[in-house]
Amino acid sequence: MSKLKISLVGLGQRGMVHLKSLGRLSDEDLIEIAAIADPFEENLSDEKISKTLNISDVSKIKKFSNTKDLINDNISDGIIFAMPPNQHNGEIELAAKKSIGILAEKPQSLFLDEILKQNDSINSSNTISTVGFQMRYDDGYTDIKKYLSNKWTAAITMAVLGAVEGHGVKHTKTETLGGRSDRIWTADKKWSGTSIVENGIHYTDIMRYWTNSDIKWVQANYTERPENLQDQEGSNPIAYSVVYGFENGCVANLLYTKPAKSFFSENYEYIITTHSTVKFEDDYVAYEYLDQDWPPSDKPDLKDLRKIISKNPSKEPMMEFENTYKMIRTFVEAMDSNDKSKLRCNYENSINSIASVLAANASNLLNGDKINIDEFITSEKFSKFRSKEKNLITE
Ligand SMILES: NC(=O)c1ccc[n+]([C@@H]2O[C@H](COP(=O)([O-])OP(=O)(O)OC[C@H]3O[C@@H](n4cnc5c(N)ncnc54)[C@H](O)[C@@H]3O)[C@@H](O)[C@H]2O)c1
Repeated sequence: MSKLKISLVGLGQRGMVHLKSLGRLSDEDLIEIAAIADPFEENLSDEKISKTLNISDVSKIKKFSNTKDLINDNISDGIIFAMPPNQHNGEIELAAKKSIGILAEKPQSLFLDEILKQNDSINSSNTISTVGFQMRYDDGYTDIKKYLSNKWTAAITMAVLGAVEGHGVKHTKTETLGGRSDRIWTADKKWSGTSIVENGIHYTDIMRYWTNSDIKWVQANYTERPENLQDQEGSNPIAYSVVYGFENGCVANLLYTKPAKSFFSENYEYIITTHSTVKFEDDYVAYEYLDQDWPPSDKPDLKDLRKIISKNPSKEPMMEFENTYKMIRTFVEAMDSNDKSKLRCNYENSINSIASVLAANASNLLNGDKINIDEFITSEKFSKFRSKEKNLITE
């Protein structure tokens, strides 16, 4: 593999994880880290960069306070974008125009019109592109996909019980950009686009990966946080109830919470196929009765129906560093061989995930109306929900 030059935009919480991956790829002699862009000088300090990188000469990496200057410097074969989703301003389109490979962190923007523009530029240049859904690179989750590949998935129930962002102090100086003074921008609807867009998108996308099917419609209802609590706890809703209908007929329930002062965190996942129940225990298992006789004369013992799908999977596929590393390595390999098929999702394919969470917001604003995703992407009826200018997130 020749050494590709990779740059990074946004050296914040997520950017540091990307930089660690790039450092490893550089140590493996697979890439060169070309440049980093960040509008805040303190985020570009050698001290901060060397916290993550092993390479001795951090000064070889070019630094830019303006992303477009980095792109126009023509030193990058590929760029990882890890900036807040409401701060984009044509950078992805410019990089695509120059046929630079693009790995954009999810959500690529909070506004579908902007995302569609980015996608058009990527399609026109036919450049390699992907979006930061690292859970697609998790071995345990991929074992689930393999198990489901010859079955019909009828239903998924997922409860993601998380607490409000209490320790997520970010690196963007939001106080200088009209955002929160404590820099926890994920708690602010105007910046996060709601927690379903900011984080629930990962769970939405992984259901598409497992089922190998796109989302066809969504219905959602949220419990808003009382206004008098929002200054302290943020403006995101406290709880989200989202129902997705898939093209293959599967119906999924995503229950998602963000209470403050709870600190409890746990996930439950159940996948129902025509003839089995998949459950996430210490191993991922399926309960399935494979004998031909039906109904059986004696009720089988559950332990005889238990089949391990994935042994000892990662407890936290989203946070697992190896998954992000594998995603970036695959991005680099896809660029090197000019082979998009290596990637587990490309920009165009990611649109169904981002459109579904944005349509969940719209459904909530429309009192739980059922929204068809294709219509949401194209119909005049939903244009106000797609528009950056109208910015309905704040409603
Ligand atoms: N895939 C994942 O698991 C995962 C995890 C965390 C965050 N993210 C995503 O990564 C992105 C960044 O989030 P974060 O947690 O690192 O936030 P952050 O605020 O900690 O970091 C963002 C960085 O971008 C910089 N920045 C701000 N405006 C910019 C601009 N206009 N151009 C270039 N850089 C700019 C900031 O200075 C900061 O250093 C978001 O889209 C977020 O949703 C993804």
